[in-house]
Amino acid sequence: MNILRTPKAMADWSRRLHREGVTIGFVPTMGALHDGHRALIRAARLQCDALVVSIFVNPTQFAPTEDLAKYPRPIAKDRALCRAEGVDICFEPGATAIYPEGFETVVTVPGIAQRWEGDIRPHHFAGVATVVTKLFGMVRPDIAVFGQKDFQQAALVRRVIEDLSLGVKLIVHPTVREQDGLAMSSRNVYLSQTDRTLAPILYKSLQAGAAAIKNGTTASRQIQSMMTQVLRRESAATVDYLAVCDPDTLAPLASVSERAVLLGAIRIGNVRLIDNVLVKRPAKRGRR
Ligand code: PAF
Repeated sequence: MNILRTPKAMADWSRRLHREGVTIGFVPTMGALHDGHRALIRAARLQCDALVVSIFVNPTQFAPTEDLAKYPRPIAKDRALCRAEGVDICFEPGATAIYPEGFETVVTVPGIAQRWEGDIRPHHFAGVATVVTKLFGMVRPDIAVFGQKDFQQAALVRRVIEDLSLGVKLIVHPTVREQDGLAMSSRNVYLSQTDRTLAPILYKSLQAGAAAIKNGTTASRQIQSMMTQVLRRESAATVDYLAVCDPDTLAPLASVSERAVLLGAIRIGNVRLIDNVLVKRPAKRGRR
């Protein structure tokens, strides 16, 4: 595995491989890699000839009050995971390589970014859309793999790829979970021991919503109230949002007819957890 640090080295490598007809897969990350990332890397590996993983803790997607300074950066461990998974290039640009002096372009996706995470973290998605567009420009991937855990992020990236004709095939990999259902996340390390035992309540609440839909409940208000009831069992958790949404636009649905995504964000102690479940209502039986 080679480590590249500059946009030029990255772009030169990728141009050379494209000339040779090699397909390039890409998994962008902020490091602190866990088994969820490992699954993304493995999924990408199966679909391309050469694989790039980027490790860049992107400052523009953090608000000044957030955890940029303390975000975990176990670079040696991250490289070892990449090496073990057969990654060809670990792209580790510095902040000034991505945002050199004079940099001012910002990619915004007002529709998808305006709700849920966007409400609570107003500058977050502009930071994500801008850095992902930039990384795509340097890596020039044929395919890119993102995790379903960050559902709104994946929807945003899909929009950017389509709107800017970036020609990247997006693969969204199902969320990888701990045995008790907690979605894997680099930020789970912030949970205290007690809070860690409470954290699976978010997934349980989303599952309760999904079960209600599968059992025939269609009204979003009812589904939301079922999810809230489950969460109330855990008084240490406060809800940022629990929503029943259209999976493509993320607009809230008044009722579920076919497909929906249940989005949830809660706080336990100082830690914010987000998760989601995609639901498809069982098709009505046709007449014989
Ligand atoms: O999901 C992440 O780790 C980040 O938001 C991403 C896509 C690498 C952009 O910084």
